[in-house]
Amino acid sequence: MKQKSGFSGQIGFVLAAAGSAVGVGNLWRFPYLAAKDGGGLFLIIYLVLVLTVGFTLLTTDIAIGRKTGKSAIYAYESMRKKWKFLGVITFIVPVIIMTYYAVIGGWILKYIAIYILGSGKEAVADNCFTNFITSPSSVWYGIIFMLLTAIIVYNGVEKGIERVSKFIMPVLLVMVVGIAIFSLTLKTTLDDGTVRTGLQGLKVYLTPDMSGITVQKFLQVSLDAMSQLFFSLSVSMGIMITYGSYMRKEDNIESSVRQIEVFDTLVAFLSGLIIVPAVFVFSGGDENALNAGPSLMFITLPNVFKEMLGGQIVGAVFFLLVVLAAMTSSISLMETVVSIVEERFHWKRIPSCLIVTGISFLIGLLSVFGYSIWSDFTIFHMQFLDFFDYISNNIMMPIVALMTCVLVGFVVKTTFVEDEIEKNARFRVKGLYRVMIKFICPICMLLILFSALFLKL
Ligand code: PHE
Repeated sequence: MKQKSGFSGQIGFVLAAAGSAVGVGNLWRFPYLAAKDGGGLFLIIYLVLVLTVGFTLLTTDIAIGRKTGKSAIYAYESMRKKWKFLGVITFIVPVIIMTYYAVIGGWILKYIAIYILGSGKEAVADNCFTNFITSPSSVWYGIIFMLLTAIIVYNGVEKGIERVSKFIMPVLLVMVVGIAIFSLTLKTTLDDGTVRTGLQGLKVYLTPDMSGITVQKFLQVSLDAMSQLFFSLSVSMGIMITYGSYMRKEDNIESSVRQIEVFDTLVAFLSGLIIVPAVFVFSGGDENALNAGPSLMFITLPNVFKEMLGGQIVGAVFFLLVVLAAMTSSISLMETVVSIVEERFHWKRIPSCLIVTGISFLIGLLSVFGYSIWSDFTIFHMQFLDFFDYISNNIMMPIVALMTCVLVGFVVKTTFVEDEIEKNARFRVKGLYRVMIKFICPICMLLILFSALFLKL
């Protein structure tokens, strides 16, 4: 096998993988879900799932990558010839996500510009966000984001991805901790004299809200936590297989997985500490303020920053944080696709990066213009961006995860993964892993698929 370039050691690998995992999903989707799904209740369920389902899927992806030394399509093919199709589906997921992730990256860049170049007031002007995304010129920001990603990927695994992640990830952690502490110290007095504090918001975030809990609600919360987990850990889309293929044989997979999970979950938890108390204090505790999706980040939060002392600085730092997180995720998406193009066509890095950037740009236009000049086109009543998000996260990723579990659990057998982990250390939770990959994970994936197909459309 051709010697590939790779990460220089376990720290580089863990930080790059954590860079992929920590993204907008941690910073805006996690806090929103936690607030919606009963605070501490969601947190507890999420934590249990990270340690079981998340651990299993992440370990499997990384072990497959390192053992085969190949990126997704070829990794599955070399496990079993007939399973190449699974590699192809896996390959399509990052292609789709990359195109719309760059669009969202562009939105974030725009907000950094608003906070750094202006006073941040523009961000709270009427319809600022809607006007921006419905204007075709927003495409420029997406292009800048994509080009920045391409430059880093072009520089290679060790000199590009690892170097950038080793710098960005610690900075990101310091920023999240800093803003979270700031958020907890917030305080305001409402017109009727009631005082609202960040610490009260903290209580809303942490206390499990069991009021009106039914089996159905419990299932719904678990499903939300499960699909969040998928997206957040960047599993089942070839990324961790690709990164695993760059991992040194002497590094420890099990402890790396634990470290990635701790990093990812910690940042998600801390962003909840930023967002939930801040919105609680300044939006009068209105639950709807913690709205789903983009409006929380691009409309509600700017309004919260406006109310704060030093809001412009906090806003600038916050959006900088978000863009750094989004950048390391976007790098991992592009690297996954580029590595497959390199392997398939035996091209050098420059042409591979150029082709991948060009094609994602073209597909990305659907997402950008889907909100502006092509907004009349919808699929299942969704704009292109929302449709891409839906199909990749709710349909394709669970299918990939389900099939991977079947392949590893019953076709090549769990020893395929276990042997790779035991190359240099004892696999401490082997028993749990076997039960998870054969039975529990497939059931969870079927549940996600079922709910996506029958409850969400
Ligand atoms: N894991 C990233 C997040 O939490 C999202 C992501 C998805 C990154 C797909 C790469 C690929 O935001």
